[in-house]
Amino acid sequence: MFVLPPPPRYPSGQYGAGLGHAVPMIETNNTISNPEGPEWQFLVGEGQYVLKEDLHLATPPPHPSEAPVINPNPLATTPQAATAGTRLSLLNLEARAIPAFTFKGFADATLAGSSSSITDQSGKDRYSTEGGMSSEDGRGTSTSEPPTSVTLASAPAFGEGNALLTQTSGKDATKKKKPKNNMTKSNSSFISRVIVNESLARKLADRSNDGLFVFANINRAFQWLDLSSPSKQDYLTKILFTKAHCLCHDVNLVTKSPAHIDVIMGFSTGEVIWWEPISQRYTRLNKNGVINSTPVSKIKWIPGSENLFLAGHMDGSLVVYDKEKDDAPFIPEDEQTNGSETVPEGQSSHDYAILINKSVHSKNQKMNPVAAWKLSNQRINSFSFSPDRRHLAVVCEDGTLRIIDYLKEELLDLYHSYYGGLSCVCWSPDAKYVLTGGQDDLISIWSMADSALVARCQGHHSFVSDVAFDPWRCDDRNYRFGSVGEDGRLCLWDFGVGMLHRPRAQSTAQRGSVSSPLALQRTESGQASTGHTKSDESLDSELGDDMVKHPVEPRARIPMLPPVLNKSVDTHPTHWLAFTEDAIMTSCKSGHIRTWLRPGAEHNKTSS
Ligand SMILES: *[C@@H]1O[C@H](CO)[C@@H](O)[C@H](O)[C@H]1NC(C)=O
Ligand SMILES: *[C@@H]1O[C@H](CO)[C@@H](O)[C@H](O)[C@H]1NC(C)=O
Ligand SMILES: *[C@@H]1O[C@H](CO)[C@@H](O)[C@H](O)[C@H]1NC(C)=O
Ligand SMILES: *[C@@H]1O[C@H](CO)[C@@H](O)[C@H](O)[C@H]1NC(C)=O
Ligand SMILES: *[C@@H]1O[C@H](CO)[C@@H](O)[C@H](O)[C@H]1NC(C)=O
Ligand SMILES: *[C@@H]1O[C@H](CO)[C@@H](O)[C@H](O)[C@H]1NC(C)=O
Ligand SMILES: *[C@@H]1O[C@H](CO)[C@@H](O)[C@H](O)[C@H]1NC(C)=O
Ligand SMILES: *[C@@H]1O[C@H](CO)[C@@H](O)[C@H](O)[C@H]1NC(C)=O
Repeated sequence: MFVLPPPPRYPSGQYGAGLGHAVPMIETNNTISNPEGPEWQFLVGEGQYVLKEDLHLATPPPHPSEAPVINPNPLATTPQAATAGTRLSLLNLEARAIPAFTFKGFADATLAGSSSSITDQSGKDRYSTEGGMSSEDGRGTSTSEPPTSVTLASAPAFGEGNALLTQTSGKDATKKKKPKNNMTKSNSSFISRVIVNESLARKLADRSNDGLFVFANINRAFQWLDLSSPSKQDYLTKILFTKAHCLCHDVNLVTKSPAHIDVIMGFSTGEVIWWEPISQRYTRLNKNGVINSTPVSKIKWIPGSENLFLAGHMDGSLVVYDKEKDDAPFIPEDEQTNGSETVPEGQSSHDYAILINKSVHSKNQKMNPVAAWKLSNQRINSFSFSPDRRHLAVVCEDGTLRIIDYLKEELLDLYHSYYGGLSCVCWSPDAKYVLTGGQDDLISIWSMADSALVARCQGHHSFVSDVAFDPWRCDDRNYRFGSVGEDGRLCLWDFGVGMLHRPRAQSTAQRGSVSSPLALQRTESGQASTGHTKSDESLDSELGDDMVKHPVEPRARIPMLPPVLNKSVDTHPTHWLAFTEDAIMTSCKSGHIRTWLRPGAEHNKTSS
């Protein structure tokens, strides 16, 4: 099988080394524990958060074909397989109310039109495709700020106007199309083993739709769990892949029902699997990397779409796939750029805006990909759709934050980190602010209305790996968000609109032709690591009239925000967090899923 080199972020693996000796298969079980004591709780203004439980996912043994090289030297940096920390996709099948204050300033009509499909569970990896509330993109948009004042109801669907794309969806609303292959009897070399709990059908029939399903990756395993079950540590299904590691995943909130769940997973091999867990059927997409052969670092259903999802690949491409379309070897169509005319040989990603290798408006829509855009020569680390479904915020290893009008395939803004790559990004529930976190150990707050950086947040002692707003503690003037980092810390932060004022003159965004905005940035980041070190000269290249490049703001000029909480929650690097109605959830590199109950939430322990 064709296996790709692992992503640069992780040490390179020993794939296909063919060592010829089998490693004993020691299969362990998930465990649950309920540690108590002062180190498992923390106090914030609103009260005490208490650890409810620590669900530890079993790390699978390596597949026999990828036996690790045993090096007796304890200092050896043994190469590891391409992997990622455990991240979760959360799913609640029931439609429930979301925090009311999120909607201040919203037209009633907008609310009425979408409230039936709202879910309340926040989830980083769960998009509010149908107006669902999530920590990453709360929903709603103010009508007061012209640049982002678009209500959900008025946002067109992605690809609208291309008749070739509308044909596929929604023919028979009651019967959802299933993937092609039977997972349990698969003889694919990609899938090593599938273990379905023998009482899955009964468990599904007995549970309340209000319970929380969790989908989680750990090394080469992928698990489906029911957190509302008394034996939540017993997975409903566990899939073991042969060599590939699932790096990211997402659940479709438009198509979810007790009878049908659409899950997509992105792999270290670049491949994508569409899995329907209730029928246990799956389809492989981008098989053998035929469309893009680099690992998938982030994957999300396109808001409101039953079929289309977006994958961020590590070559700096964003690719839109249709879950039901077959792959075809990808040949970039007429190269078009939006934002700049051309990309001269040897220039970096900063030099062009968004390179459209295939447009969603292409007339060739029989096969995947539906669209493909090249943003950077370095990998895409994360992206997030705005709650109003019009914009996409993308962060890359090259230290850039891009705000894209993905409906028009147009780059609107290009910002830079203080230094180093940016790893995570999210929108405020009202779409007014974007947060990024990265290798500068900082979280940056970007105001969309001002097109400017408004604050930096210092509290982590290492790379920031995830950020999310707490929609239950945000209103139209005050915002609460959380972050986790490689330092195993959870930080909580509060800011209010009044805190973020800065002299207008300092917001030196430049429209149209750019003289040399990054000159300032180069000196600023001179002492720093990666990022924007090369070919700043080329910034003179033509830019579209609407695209704005922003220089890096010097440290002294931007307010520095301290955390309201700075708490070590894990001894391992923490990689994910989400806010739910009654808890904060965190997960780490080695598979600990911790649930921290909010003040006043029911503290019943589940251990038996
Ligand atoms: C895992 O659980 C199964 C069934 O619950 C049990 O038979 C097995 O011994 C357990 N394995 C370990 C390593 O604890
Ligand atoms: C998949 O295959 C298994 C084993 O052959 C079989 O029991 C099951 O019914 C099949 N499922 C579907 C949905 O075809
Ligand atoms: C197993 O794989 C072969 C080809 O690799 C295929 O022809 C056959 O149909 C597969 N069997 C099943 C049960 O999927
Ligand atoms: C299936 O679930 C039951 C009840 O939670 C549990 O006792 C059993 O060990 C599970 N089976 C497997 C294979 O995990
Ligand atoms: C570029 O942007 C313009 C203005 O929005 C739009 O009309 C045009 O179709 C875009 N070009 C491509 C190739 O998408
Ligand atoms: C997109 O086009 C660029 C420029 O021609 C090219 O370097 C890149 O490889 C293309 N991407 C894909 C996925 O074909
Ligand atoms: C975070 O807490 C640690 C001790 O737990 C302390 O040393 C550190 O200074 C704190 N950092 C911030 C930014 O508050
Ligand atoms: C929690 O515990 C209390 C008593 O300790 C009990 O009355 C209540 O029903 C429990 N709630 C849940 C959700 O289990």
